[in-house]
Amino acid sequence: MAIQNAARGNRVAYAETAFGDSALNDLKDLIARNTAWANKIKKQQPNFFSQLAEEQRPEYLWIGCSDSRVSTERILDLQPGEMFVHRNIANLVVHDDLSCTSVVQYAVEVLKVRHIIVCGHYGCGGVAAALNEQPLGLIDNWLRHIGDVARLHTDELSRLQGQPKVDRLCELNVIEQMNNLCASPSVLSAWESGSPLTIHGLIYQLDQGVLRQLTPSVSSLSERNT
Ligand code: CO
Repeated sequence: MAIQNAARGNRVAYAETAFGDSALNDLKDLIARNTAWANKIKKQQPNFFSQLAEEQRPEYLWIGCSDSRVSTERILDLQPGEMFVHRNIANLVVHDDLSCTSVVQYAVEVLKVRHIIVCGHYGCGGVAAALNEQPLGLIDNWLRHIGDVARLHTDELSRLQGQPKVDRLCELNVIEQMNNLCASPSVLSAWESGSPLTIHGLIYQLDQGVLRQLTPSVSSLSERNT
């Protein structure tokens, strides 16, 4: 029945049959929230969406964790159009991750953002999982990148246990992802051509809702963390 409905292009009927009323109600709630939000903004700024639809000119690229509690625009109190965003588990910048490297290239070369922010957060589940030996399946391939960061800092991390160890690795991970960005072709060519571009490293404290800068920002190859 569900397949027949879908074949007729009856998407609502398909959703009702396949996912049940409860899922549909959840979606209705989200759509209603969106409608109320859009109406509120249009009331305050009637041209907001029509102007935004013409062009985006964000000054920042944000590379953060997918964690639902670290909602980029929400914690920075920004409007749509102000931040170009890439999020993945544990805010990693991996050289052969086509998704992240394409986002960086587009942000730097086309949007010409002036700032790239790598933001980690304390209590990151991805970082904690990387320290845990238990196999988790496919995601272990991704978490290996955090394991590599831990191995670079074995001496310091070996003196810590439990949550302080996880949280220190959350910090070190941000710094290493900044280093990866500083070695990326898009960032290097921007610096070589004299384009203003600064890499920042922040960490977010979930239980306070507060961001903190972890390490000095980097605006050239000579300034990068060593
Ligand atoms: Co996280």
